[in-house]
Amino acid sequence: MLNQHFLLEISYLLGSITFIIGLKKLSHPETARNGNLLAAAGMGLAILATIFFHQKEGHSIGNIPWIIAGMVIGTIIGWLMAMKVKMTAMPQMVSFFNGMGGACAAIISLVEYNTHGTHDPGFSWMVFLGLVIGSVSFSGSMVAFAKLDGKIKDIFTSAFTYINIVLLLSILGLVVWGVYGHNPLGGHLIWVLLALSLLYGVLFVMPIGGADMPVVISLLNSFTGVAAAMGGFLYNNTVMLTGGILVGSAGTILTLLMTKAMNRSLLNVIIGSFGGSATAKGGASGDKNAKETTVTDTAIMCGYAARVCIVPGYGLAVAQAQHACHELEKSLEEKGVEVYYAIHPVAGRMPGHMNVLLAEADVSYDKLLELEDANALLPNTDVVLVIGANDVVNPLAETDPSSPIYGMPVVKVWEANRVVVIKRSLSPGYAKIDNPLFYMDKSWMLFSDAKKALNALVAEVKNI
Ligand code: TAP
Repeated sequence: MLNQHFLLEISYLLGSITFIIGLKKLSHPETARNGNLLAAAGMGLAILATIFFHQKEGHSIGNIPWIIAGMVIGTIIGWLMAMKVKMTAMPQMVSFFNGMGGACAAIISLVEYNTHGTHDPGFSWMVFLGLVIGSVSFSGSMVAFAKLDGKIKDIFTSAFTYINIVLLLSILGLVVWGVYGHNPLGGHLIWVLLALSLLYGVLFVMPIGGADMPVVISLLNSFTGVAAAMGGFLYNNTVMLTGGILVGSAGTILTLLMTKAMNRSLLNVIIGSFGGSATAKGGASGDKNAKETTVTDTAIMCGYAARVCIVPGYGLAVAQAQHACHELEKSLEEKGVEVYYAIHPVAGRMPGHMNVLLAEADVSYDKLLELEDANALLPNTDVVLVIGANDVVNPLAETDPSSPIYGMPVVKVWEANRVVVIKRSLSPGYAKIDNPLFYMDKSWMLFSDAKKALNALVAEVKNI
């Protein structure tokens, strides 16, 4: 018995340590894959140790066949989804999995409430918070999933702000009542809280649109971590607690970085009052025409430049053009051109999307400049190649206070000498707003699929 307890605690310690090291390794593309495997192995060990070594009042865990059957089914579904998902649909899948984590935390609370009731305030806080945060994370992530997948559109009315405030206050009031008072709803309280929390999750993500989704996605990630940590408290389980707290705090840091990157306030995200008006706006295009260029002209422009900046965006991921992009970088460097990349923190559809994509093509990490560093270098850059990016290079973010992306820091590509934008048409990006960059005197459009254009450019540059 003592031995089993000892083995369990050691397994939890190992699980926690591997999780921490794994998380650290995730911070660099070169070590991320191993970090992921290490953390997963640690969690696997903790799960197995719980099944085989956990004892309560001299009894081992029951229902083992059910538990194993659930794990096998979940593993098969998760594995199939992960193997089949296209790189561009990865953000949706991450949202979906995040929602499942929230749902698990909420279900734990429901089970514990029905088993133990709410006699002790400390226990009750954990039950209710796990339920509320887990449910918000679940329904919010499902809406985020559907939005990223293009299945639903942003719906915004200013009434949402008030409804969300009322909902949030009602939920908090009911939780306090449930913990300290004799609430008149009795055993129904938990179900009312569940319904209100699910509704709040939907209503707070629904209006957030345009370019503001990244903030909400990272916020939902941190919610799932916090909800799991509540489960750790409930079960007095160190590994669940460590995992939950690490995910919660990492998610919170990411959220704060995202809000900074988007120049938004976290309070607005929680109440859900910004963003939604991200409907298409005319921008500054007027009757101007965008100038078109050719692969040959672009190759000459870049091949004879001293310094070229590449701004990758979501279109690079869609086209799977990262390898061709790296080839172009190498062929330009062979001609003596200095090449660097400007990485916008919300380019693509998930945090770090461009870093992951370019790392896959072995682009050196030193060449990836963060937004501020890239902006400092742009006035001394001869040519910028914008590849499948749109919102992150939109000058309206600086010039039009009525624009939904106003205030968001962008890559100021127009400060370089010349800009070539590689995309298939003049259509807008995720925020559905026109981009005056395309009509500027120093801009040229190279209308093409990114991979096709980059492969052709590589061949042309080699001929110079
Ligand atoms: P977007 O503004 O979405 O623009 C991408 C552009 O790529 C589109 O205008 C599209 O134009 C072009 N494109 C698509 N397929 C292409 C292909 N095969 N070849 C060449 N071009 C192609 O991308 P962005 O500049 O990276 O900005 C990201 C946006 O997503 C921001 O608004 C951001 O807030 C939002 N968002 C980000 C995240 C995270 S966490 N990164 C999460 C959710 C939302 P054509 O159709 O004309 O080719």
